[in-house]
Amino acid sequence: MKMNDLHLKPEGKAMQAAATPVAIIGAGDIFPAYVAGLAQFGNLRLVGVADARPEAAAAQSQAQAVPAFSVDELLAGEAQIIINLTPPQAHRAVGEAVLKAGKHLYTEKPLAGSFADGAALMELASAQGLRIGCAPDTFLGGAGQLARTLVDGGQLGRIVAGQATMMERGPDDWHPNPAFFYRPGAGPLMDMGVYYLTQLVQLLGPITRVNGMAHTSWPIRQIPRGPRQGESIQVETPTHLVAGLEFEQGAFITLSTSFDVWKHKSSHIELYGERGSLVLPDPNQFGGALESCEADGDWQSQTPQVFTGRHRGLGVADMAEALRSGRQHRANGEMALHVLEAMDAVLRAAEKKAPVSLRTRCARPDPVNPGFAESLQFQAKPAAQEQSA
Ligand SMILES: NC(=O)c1ccc[n+]([C@@H]2O[C@H](COP(=O)([O-])OP(=O)(O)OC[C@H]3O[C@@H](n4cnc5c(N)ncnc54)[C@H](O)[C@@H]3O)[C@@H](O)[C@H]2O)c1
Repeated sequence: MKMNDLHLKPEGKAMQAAATPVAIIGAGDIFPAYVAGLAQFGNLRLVGVADARPEAAAAQSQAQAVPAFSVDELLAGEAQIIINLTPPQAHRAVGEAVLKAGKHLYTEKPLAGSFADGAALMELASAQGLRIGCAPDTFLGGAGQLARTLVDGGQLGRIVAGQATMMERGPDDWHPNPAFFYRPGAGPLMDMGVYYLTQLVQLLGPITRVNGMAHTSWPIRQIPRGPRQGESIQVETPTHLVAGLEFEQGAFITLSTSFDVWKHKSSHIELYGERGSLVLPDPNQFGGALESCEADGDWQSQTPQVFTGRHRGLGVADMAEALRSGRQHRANGEMALHVLEAMDAVLRAAEKKAPVSLRTRCARPDPVNPGFAESLQFQAKPAAQEQSA
């Protein structure tokens, strides 16, 4: 029996289940993509939006036809899951407010701005008997799940090594308010490396030890265009990081993340197994083609067919269905905390110039089963344009 066959049980019948009310705190750049993404899942009902800037909530309310509330009103309202779309530096405070209001929390990545803050959120959720879900959920997309089938299927043998590369010139030229990307809690590792690490952990399992090197090529950045054109950003977190990751199953992976590189020609993720190799598409997207080869055979390309578009909120829909049926949700806080610890550890390793062992571990989330899309009452709809998946 193939490893994946173990999970081939139906997800459960949610077609008749009432939609779970969800609400959003944070009416910024990514909000419209969530509204469009959540609308694809019939098991969710978006009931409101709030923001520390009421004018932002009001503007998005009008543009997206979602009722606006004050943060306190939203926390006291009917939502069962509250989605946190604030910048990482606010994730702990907003997350704590959500949990203290007795609501389940689904937060944008990273789980929090530091490992200590993420651990505090997880402790509070556990004390309150509530769940935490966390982006990224792109690993639930067609490409991540096809990669999971290939890795678990055994044709490549045990994965022994690999490399992952996220290098670009930074978000200053497209985000309307890019300063938060250059503060602790963001930077290329926490903001973008999180997609790569989450994909690697769902494929290979937990990381035991990391090494790191980090530097900042431009300590001050000038915003080139947009509403803040010409403003300077003081860079407060490294913008080029190289990490060595040792996984519990034995693989060594190198990860490069950078906001200091104009262009490159490296693949997003390459995994090398005892019997073959696998090249994955951008883990910040749900779809994309995979290439694999066995031993020194020819490369074969495969393109997934389901969940290949813009499905932001898939992790929320999975969480709602998991709450209904009593199973663990896949984009869960345990995995997000482990990934956050790995990122925090890379930064500490770079500072100390010495490897750092991780204290947390996590189970790999279950692969997606046949019946998954139906259980979320998924209906593909064109989603809003966005910079990243
Ligand atoms: N912008 C993107 O393309 C993108 C893509 C993927 C993930 N994300 C993630 O989504 C989150 C939000 O990103 P964004 O680009 O929308 O940021 P943004 O700065 O455009 O919007 C954030 C919003 O949160 C509000 N806010 C800040 N602190 C608050 C608080 N304490 N209480 C209530 N509201 C508060 C702000 O007023 C603002 O309207 C981040 O975690 C980011 O990593 C963004």
